[in-house]
Amino acid sequence: MPFIDRDFINDLPNRVDIVGLINKRVALKKAGKDYKACCPFHEEKTPSFTVVPTKQIYHCFGCGESGGVIDFVMKYDHLSFVEAIETVAGESGISVVYDQTAKPVDKRFKRYNEIMNELNNFYQGQLKTSSAKNKVVSYAKKRGISGSIAKRFELGFAPPGWTNLFDQYSEKEESIQDLLSMGMIVPKKDKKDDYYDRFRDRLMFPIHNAKGSVIGFGGRVLSSQDNPKYLNSPETPLFSKSKELYGLYHCRKYSRRIDSILVVEGYMDVIALHQQGITNVVATLGTATTPAHLQILSRSAETIVFCFDGDKAGRDAAWKALKTSLPSVTSGLIIKFLILPEGEDPDTLINRESSKAFSKRIEGAQTLSSFLIDHIKEEVPFDTIEGKTLFLEKSASLINLVNYSIYRQQLIEGIANAIGQNITQVEKAVELSKDQNTHFSNSNQAEHKQFSPQPMSQTISNKSHSSMKSLMSRMISCVLTYPSIVNDPETTSVIEERARKLPKSEVLLELIRHAQVESDLSKEALLKPYKSKERVYLRLQELSTMEPFLSEFEAQEEFGYALTAAEKYYERKSTKASILSAKTHDEEEAVMKSIMKNKMKTVNQKKTP
Ligand code: GTP
Ligand code: MN
Repeated sequence: MPFIDRDFINDLPNRVDIVGLINKRVALKKAGKDYKACCPFHEEKTPSFTVVPTKQIYHCFGCGESGGVIDFVMKYDHLSFVEAIETVAGESGISVVYDQTAKPVDKRFKRYNEIMNELNNFYQGQLKTSSAKNKVVSYAKKRGISGSIAKRFELGFAPPGWTNLFDQYSEKEESIQDLLSMGMIVPKKDKKDDYYDRFRDRLMFPIHNAKGSVIGFGGRVLSSQDNPKYLNSPETPLFSKSKELYGLYHCRKYSRRIDSILVVEGYMDVIALHQQGITNVVATLGTATTPAHLQILSRSAETIVFCFDGDKAGRDAAWKALKTSLPSVTSGLIIKFLILPEGEDPDTLINRESSKAFSKRIEGAQTLSSFLIDHIKEEVPFDTIEGKTLFLEKSASLINLVNYSIYRQQLIEGIANAIGQNITQVEKAVELSKDQNTHFSNSNQAEHKQFSPQPMSQTISNKSHSSMKSLMSRMISCVLTYPSIVNDPETTSVIEERARKLPKSEVLLELIRHAQVESDLSKEALLKPYKSKERVYLRLQELSTMEPFLSEFEAQEEFGYALTAAEKYYERKSTKASILSAKTHDEEEAVMKSIMKNKMKTVNQKKTP
């Protein structure tokens, strides 16, 4: 995006007519030297919205909203700062001065915009002039697309044939390069300078950016025999599907107020909803919702409603959107989820029901927190304590994705409510999950920095189900290779204490003690006491040669990983056992509390090195 000249920005409000610009959007009435209207930013019956031309500002005495003409256009038209500057200048017949020194506007972009605009006109014209137009017109009719909506969305037709675009532009080398950059023609395999049209025999949906320029296309086949069903522009200098939303331009243009914005999956959904009078709708372009999408959406409306199909794919996509949304939740932003009945999409549903019924569905969309709770509930055996503990763990790690503290607190309360525990309990779990995450991510980072060969710590932290036996073997192997790692009296006493709590840790404990008695003990000396027990001896010998490439430092890290993993593994096992033994509700609650308490303890131990 080009930078606009600073002086131009500062000067612009003085050069435009604030009354005229606002009056285009909200009918103003003269009141003395000023102008008045009912405020467009809050509901009111008597006008308290005032425009003061002498000061070039507006102010609402009802809701306190105020600012200059750029602020007004940003807010009313839902535009970014740069877009608002361009709009205000454009409507006032002033050319924007871009700061050429900051970032020269690339001449190619101007050409790209022009050629995309030309193609858009070409495709629209083909709806009327192509010899094959009948099948596309009848297809549009079959799908119930009205003439006026087709016009609104500038629908078009890419006629059959491989070289319609290429033939049109073949005389102009520069245009061919531009078509190529825009992904509208595709080079033939093994044939340089020979191209074919990307879109052939398809119903065309131009994709506009927020300013209304055409930056890409989507094309739908007319017959279910053909594939792929939809073809979209590839990533180009103008178009990036992770940043664009289909219909955003139309949403802003045709919605009077955008209190909420509905995010659907398909082109046809946007169009069908517009046709039924629901204009505050956009679609992602065949991708999952991205953080960039969320940023644009949150600037456009206070409530975002994600709408998904009720099948497995739709529910998965909804869950993904939830996880992407969590870090973006901020004050004043409400995120909701609307899961449609299986097999329906907004297009089919609104054409079967009334738009009123569909609006009811939107109003009844689930809040993010209730969707989150319901979804995790379904993932665990919620009726058991084990399930509830799992539920708590899963939701705690999601809460840690939320930065906005008030919302975190609300989620914590909701979760406490769902499992019938008090809030402190949930807060502890959230804290714990944070510690665990940072503990593991820090260790992994250290590992990547310091170690070149990937030691088994990697396998340990990845494979949470490593059995107790193999974890024990790893620890023993480390001690046998480097007895010195359990030779520091201070840390080793803690290690010994932790190992003692693990089942079948006798051999490991013996080795640790031997290693402490004498520093610089050789492997042979360590193994000597076991010579009489043949099976143990052979196994230990095997273990002593298991990881010869580890450095001493690596072995120490390795040992730490294995010990922690063994504790976790054992803890899960014993939790299961105590849960099974709980009979009454009180007992269940006590078990859950003690599980949480133990977890806190392990984490605190890990924190102190
Ligand atoms: P129809 O109602 O059958 O026209 O399609 P739809 O609007 O219901 O779309 P659908 O739910 O099948 O897909 C949703 C969106 O995913 C579409 O609008 C496209 O953006 C994208 N999409 C669907 N099918 C394809 C495909 O075959 N290839 C690509 N690249 N994208 C697709
Ligand atoms: Mn559909």
